[in-house]
Amino acid sequence: MGTNQQKILEVKDLTVEFRTDQGKLTAVNRVSFSLGKQEVLGLVGESACGKSMTALSILRLLPPGGRITGGEVCLENVNLLKLSREKMRRKRGKTIAMIFQDPNTTLNPVRTIGAQFVETMKTHLSISMEKARDRSVDMLSAMGLASARGIMRKYPFQLSGGMRQRVMIAMALALEPQILIADEPTTALDVTVQAQILSEMRRLKKDFGTGILLISHNMGVIAQLSDRVAVMYAGSIVEYGSAEDVFYRPAHPYTRALLNSIPDLSLQGQALCSIKGQPPALHKMPEGCSFYPRCSRAGEPCKSVYPLWTDINEGHSAACFFPLEQKSCCESHGEGVLT
Ligand SMILES: Nc1ncnc2c1ncn2[C@@H]1O[C@H](COP(=O)(O)OP(=O)(O)OP(=O)(O)O)[C@@H](O)[C@H]1O
Ligand SMILES: [Mg+2]
Repeated sequence: MGTNQQKILEVKDLTVEFRTDQGKLTAVNRVSFSLGKQEVLGLVGESACGKSMTALSILRLLPPGGRITGGEVCLENVNLLKLSREKMRRKRGKTIAMIFQDPNTTLNPVRTIGAQFVETMKTHLSISMEKARDRSVDMLSAMGLASARGIMRKYPFQLSGGMRQRVMIAMALALEPQILIADEPTTALDVTVQAQILSEMRRLKKDFGTGILLISHNMGVIAQLSDRVAVMYAGSIVEYGSAEDVFYRPAHPYTRALLNSIPDLSLQGQALCSIKGQPPALHKMPEGCSFYPRCSRAGEPCKSVYPLWTDINEGHSAACFFPLEQKSCCESHGEGVLT
């Protein structure tokens, strides 16, 4: 994926497989993208399309049963997939921080938030105990958590799910990492808190040059923050380009279907266009394009041949034999999405 910015992360042909009772499935299928310094790359797609598995493989934290079977994850020309466990461990945190989709997996239930926060800070940054504590409190406040000092004394179970999510985000952002992977960071939160968090991420990008991989199935969240967008379907990226191109001038029929399924307040009372059919089962993928059974534009080659990338314009490509014409759609829909 091309960008003029200095690339910090390059993922090439990343492939992840799971062994399941129904056989082997490919959760991530030859996924490639790059992330620049001070850039936000949005990764969107329906549930179960492989967004989290892509993120977790970058940190080599796949769940049991999952295996990276191909590709490279290069951080400043070092392939992370080849590092020793110890060297990899040292990359997590200050170099690459992650906000996990499930906040319960990362917080230790028997230690207070304050103890965990301060320890995380002290492990990754050379700062005093006092500074670490002050910074933790500041970050919790920036996440819209009132009485941050009180929260430092609490255990995870004493907080709501949304509060735990904000604690995790605060910890990741406080490290001022080179790369931040944010997997559905604001899904459990209401819109005012969501706005606060997105603005903190924007600050991180601006002040520290952090490159952010932002994962969400919420196109609105992606549109608010992303410079570029990659659209994922059934384990593969099917379109990528600038946020403006992808939202205003989508080329892949799947991207257009996703945009058409966003609620539009100006169309109140009208039915939403849901995408007909289901994504294919990952252990029984169709031979050709994975979207063709749901695609109104599908023609002969789509059934049997996986589509090659078609360049739509500079930096904008789609894996489709019959990409949409450039001014045919979503001009009005995009307006509601892109801010
Ligand atoms: N532990 C597991 N065992 C077997 N298969 C798994 C496991 N975890 C994930 N998968 C497979 O990987 C695929 C991708 O899952 P992933 O969690 O990356 O989806 P996602 O795009 O993040 O979805 P969501 O939006 O719901 O978070 C799933 O379809 C599932 O089949
Ligand atoms: Mg996920």
